Amino acid sequence: MTMKTRLLLAGIALAGIAAFILSAGPSQASFLGDDLPAVVKKIAGEIKKGNAAEAKKLSAATVKNNKLIDEMSDLMHMYRPTDKGGLGIENDLKKANAKNAEEVANLVRAMAELTAAKGWAEPKGKRTKKAWNDFADEMRSAADGLAKAKTDKAATEAAGKVLNSCTRCHSVFKDS
Ligand code: HEC
Repeated sequence: MTMKTRLLLAGIALAGIAAFILSAGPSQASFLGDDLPAVVKKIAGEIKKGNAAEAKKLSAATVKNNKLIDEMSDLMHMYRPTDKGGLGIENDLKKANAKNAEEVANLVRAMAELTAAKGWAEPKGKRTKKAWNDFADEMRSAADGLAKAKTDKAATEAAGKVLNSCTRCHSVFKDS
Protein backbone atom coordinates (compact mmCIF):
# COMPACT_ATOMS: atom_id res chain seq x y z
CA MET A 1 0.00 0.00 0.00
CA THR A 2 1.37 3.40 -0.88
CA MET A 3 1.38 6.25 1.61
CA LYS A 4 -1.24 8.01 -0.50
CA THR A 5 -3.61 5.01 -0.42
CA ARG A 6 -3.15 4.69 3.32
CA LEU A 7 -4.03 8.34 3.86
CA LEU A 8 -7.01 7.96 1.57
CA LEU A 9 -8.29 4.93 3.51
CA ALA A 10 -7.78 6.74 6.80
CA GLY A 11 -9.76 9.68 5.40
CA ILE A 12 -12.64 7.43 4.36
CA ALA A 13 -12.72 5.81 7.81
CA LEU A 14 -12.81 9.25 9.49
CA ALA A 15 -15.62 10.43 7.20
CA GLY A 16 -17.57 7.29 8.13
CA ILE A 17 -17.14 7.96 11.83
CA ALA A 18 -18.18 11.60 11.39
CA ALA A 19 -21.31 10.57 9.45
CA PHE A 20 -22.18 8.09 12.19
CA ILE A 21 -21.82 10.72 14.92
CA LEU A 22 -23.89 13.26 12.95
CA SER A 23 -26.66 10.74 12.26
CA ALA A 24 -26.91 9.96 16.00
CA GLY A 25 -28.04 13.57 16.68
CA PRO A 26 -31.39 13.83 14.85
CA SER A 27 -32.44 10.26 15.64
CA GLN A 28 -31.96 10.91 19.34
CA ALA A 29 -33.88 14.17 19.11
CA SER A 30 -36.86 12.48 17.48
CA PHE A 31 -36.76 9.67 20.02
CA LEU A 32 -37.29 12.33 22.70
CA GLY A 33 -40.71 13.13 21.17
CA ASP A 34 -42.55 16.38 21.92
CA ASP A 35 -43.61 15.83 25.54
CA LEU A 36 -41.35 18.10 27.61
CA PRO A 37 -42.69 17.05 31.06
CA ALA A 38 -41.90 13.42 30.16
CA VAL A 39 -38.41 14.37 29.03
CA VAL A 40 -37.68 16.34 32.24
CA LYS A 41 -38.81 13.28 34.24
CA LYS A 42 -36.57 11.07 32.13
CA ILE A 43 -33.56 13.33 32.80
CA ALA A 44 -34.44 13.35 36.54
CA GLY A 45 -34.55 9.54 36.37
CA GLU A 46 -31.02 9.40 34.93
CA ILE A 47 -29.81 11.75 37.69
CA LYS A 48 -31.46 9.48 40.28
CA LYS A 49 -29.55 6.50 38.84
CA GLY A 50 -26.32 8.50 39.01
CA ASN A 51 -26.00 8.76 35.21
CA ALA A 52 -24.82 12.38 35.13
CA ALA A 53 -23.31 12.05 31.65
CA GLU A 54 -26.55 10.69 30.18
CA ALA A 55 -28.53 13.48 31.88
CA LYS A 56 -26.19 16.03 30.28
CA LYS A 57 -26.49 14.40 26.86
CA LEU A 58 -30.29 14.29 27.00
CA SER A 59 -30.40 17.93 28.17
CA ALA A 60 -28.19 19.06 25.28
CA ALA A 61 -30.46 17.24 22.80
CA THR A 62 -33.59 18.63 24.44
CA VAL A 63 -32.63 22.31 24.24
CA LYS A 64 -31.76 21.86 20.55
CA ASN A 65 -35.17 20.36 19.78
CA ASN A 66 -37.62 23.22 19.19
CA LYS A 67 -40.57 20.84 19.43
CA LEU A 68 -39.64 20.55 23.11
CA ILE A 69 -38.18 23.97 23.91
CA ASP A 70 -38.78 26.78 21.47
CA GLU A 71 -38.50 29.64 23.95
CA MET A 72 -37.18 30.05 27.49
CA SER A 73 -40.78 30.19 28.80
CA ASP A 74 -41.37 26.63 27.45
CA LEU A 75 -38.70 25.39 29.86
CA MET A 76 -39.78 27.59 32.76
CA HIS A 77 -43.37 26.46 32.32
CA MET A 78 -42.34 23.11 33.88
CA TYR A 79 -42.34 24.78 37.31
CA ARG A 80 -46.08 25.45 36.93
CA PRO A 81 -48.83 23.17 38.31
CA THR A 82 -49.54 19.85 36.59
CA ASP A 83 -53.07 20.98 35.59
CA LYS A 84 -51.43 23.89 33.75
CA GLY A 85 -49.13 21.58 31.76
CA GLY A 86 -46.18 21.82 34.14
CA LEU A 87 -44.62 19.37 36.58
CA GLY A 88 -45.83 21.13 39.74
CA ILE A 89 -42.23 21.69 40.89
CA GLU A 90 -42.86 25.07 42.53
CA ASN A 91 -45.83 23.74 44.56
CA ASP A 92 -43.89 20.63 45.55
CA LEU A 93 -41.03 22.81 46.79
CA LYS A 94 -43.44 24.89 48.87
CA LYS A 95 -44.68 21.76 50.62
CA ALA A 96 -41.43 19.82 50.65
CA ASN A 97 -41.09 17.06 53.25
CA ALA A 98 -38.77 14.17 54.02
CA LYS A 99 -40.81 11.89 51.75
CA ASN A 100 -40.85 13.93 48.52
CA ALA A 101 -37.49 15.69 49.00
CA GLU A 102 -35.34 13.47 46.80
CA GLU A 103 -37.86 13.26 43.98
CA VAL A 104 -38.41 17.05 43.82
CA ALA A 105 -34.65 17.59 44.14
CA ASN A 106 -34.03 15.38 41.11
CA LEU A 107 -36.59 17.34 39.07
CA VAL A 108 -34.89 20.60 40.08
CA ARG A 109 -31.47 19.11 39.20
CA ALA A 110 -32.89 18.13 35.79
CA MET A 111 -34.18 21.70 35.38
CA ALA A 112 -30.75 23.08 36.36
CA GLU A 113 -29.13 20.84 33.74
CA LEU A 114 -31.59 22.03 31.07
CA THR A 115 -31.27 25.68 32.19
CA ALA A 116 -27.48 25.51 31.86
CA ALA A 117 -27.70 23.67 28.52
CA LYS A 118 -30.13 26.28 27.17
CA GLY A 119 -27.93 29.13 28.33
CA TRP A 120 -28.68 32.83 27.98
CA ALA A 121 -28.43 33.90 24.36
CA GLU A 122 -28.79 37.70 24.57
CA PRO A 123 -26.33 39.24 27.04
CA LYS A 124 -27.34 42.74 28.10
CA GLY A 125 -26.30 44.67 31.22
CA LYS A 126 -26.48 42.38 34.27
CA ARG A 127 -27.97 39.63 32.12
CA THR A 128 -24.69 37.98 31.20
CA LYS A 129 -24.13 34.38 30.11
CA LYS A 130 -21.98 33.88 33.20
CA ALA A 131 -24.64 35.20 35.58
CA TRP A 132 -27.14 32.81 33.99
CA ASN A 133 -24.88 29.79 34.47
CA ASP A 134 -24.02 30.87 38.03
CA PHE A 135 -27.73 31.00 38.93
CA ALA A 136 -28.28 27.58 37.36
CA ASP A 137 -25.35 26.24 39.46
CA GLU A 138 -26.72 27.88 42.58
CA MET A 139 -30.08 26.17 42.01
CA ARG A 140 -28.34 22.82 41.43
CA SER A 141 -26.33 23.09 44.67
CA ALA A 142 -29.48 24.01 46.58
CA ALA A 143 -31.20 20.96 45.08
CA ASP A 144 -28.27 18.76 46.16
CA GLY A 145 -28.97 19.95 49.71
CA LEU A 146 -32.66 19.10 49.33
CA ALA A 147 -31.87 15.60 48.06
CA LYS A 148 -30.05 14.89 51.33
CA ALA A 149 -32.84 16.15 53.61
CA LYS A 150 -33.91 13.35 55.95
CA THR A 151 -36.48 15.18 58.09
CA ASP A 152 -39.46 17.38 57.24
CA LYS A 153 -37.74 20.33 58.92
CA ALA A 154 -34.55 19.85 56.89
CA ALA A 155 -36.62 19.46 53.70
CA THR A 156 -38.52 22.71 54.35
CA GLU A 157 -35.27 24.57 54.96
CA ALA A 158 -33.50 23.12 51.92
CA ALA A 159 -36.51 23.76 49.68
CA GLY A 160 -36.51 27.35 50.92
CA LYS A 161 -32.94 27.69 49.65
CA VAL A 162 -33.98 26.31 46.25
CA LEU A 163 -36.88 28.78 46.05
CA ASN A 164 -34.49 31.55 47.03
CA SER A 165 -32.25 30.64 44.07
CA CYS A 166 -35.29 30.91 41.75
CA THR A 167 -36.07 34.41 43.05
CA ARG A 168 -32.45 35.51 42.73
CA CYS A 169 -32.34 34.54 39.07
CA HIS A 170 -35.74 36.09 38.38
CA SER A 171 -34.66 39.39 39.93
CA VAL A 172 -32.03 39.69 37.19
CA PHE A 173 -33.45 37.81 34.20
CA LYS A 174 -37.24 37.87 34.42
CA ASP A 175 -39.09 40.90 33.08
CA SER A 176 -42.09 40.89 35.41
C1 HEC B 1 -31.20 30.79 35.59
C2 HEC B 1 -32.34 31.66 35.84
C3 HEC B 1 -33.60 31.10 36.40
C4 HEC B 1 -33.73 30.19 37.43
C5 HEC B 1 -32.64 29.54 38.26
C6 HEC B 1 -35.15 30.00 37.58
N1 HEC B 1 -35.85 30.74 36.70
FE1 HEC B 1 -37.88 30.79 36.50
N2 HEC B 1 -37.71 32.05 34.93
C7 HEC B 1 -36.54 32.58 34.45
C8 HEC B 1 -36.84 33.47 33.33
C9 HEC B 1 -35.83 34.24 32.49
C10 HEC B 1 -38.23 33.43 33.15
C11 HEC B 1 -39.07 34.21 32.11
C12 HEC B 1 -39.21 33.34 30.87
C13 HEC B 1 -39.98 34.05 29.77
O1 HEC B 1 -41.18 34.23 29.93
O2 HEC B 1 -39.36 34.40 28.77
C14 HEC B 1 -38.75 32.54 34.17
C15 HEC B 1 -40.09 32.21 34.31
C16 HEC B 1 -40.62 31.42 35.30
C17 HEC B 1 -42.04 31.09 35.45
C18 HEC B 1 -43.16 31.50 34.50
C19 HEC B 1 -43.29 30.35 33.51
C20 HEC B 1 -44.34 30.48 32.46
O3 HEC B 1 -45.25 29.65 32.42
O4 HEC B 1 -44.21 31.39 31.62
C21 HEC B 1 -42.16 30.30 36.57
C22 HEC B 1 -43.42 29.70 37.14
C23 HEC B 1 -40.80 30.14 37.10
N3 HEC B 1 -39.91 30.81 36.30
C24 HEC B 1 -40.52 29.41 38.23
C25 HEC B 1 -39.24 29.12 38.67
C26 HEC B 1 -38.93 28.32 39.84
C27 HEC B 1 -39.94 27.73 40.78
C28 HEC B 1 -37.56 28.24 39.90
C29 HEC B 1 -36.71 27.53 40.91
C30 HEC B 1 -37.03 26.19 41.34
C31 HEC B 1 -37.03 29.00 38.79
N4 HEC B 1 -38.07 29.53 38.07
C32 HEC B 1 -35.69 29.16 38.55
C33 HEC B 1 -35.27 32.33 34.93
C34 HEC B 1 -34.95 31.44 35.95
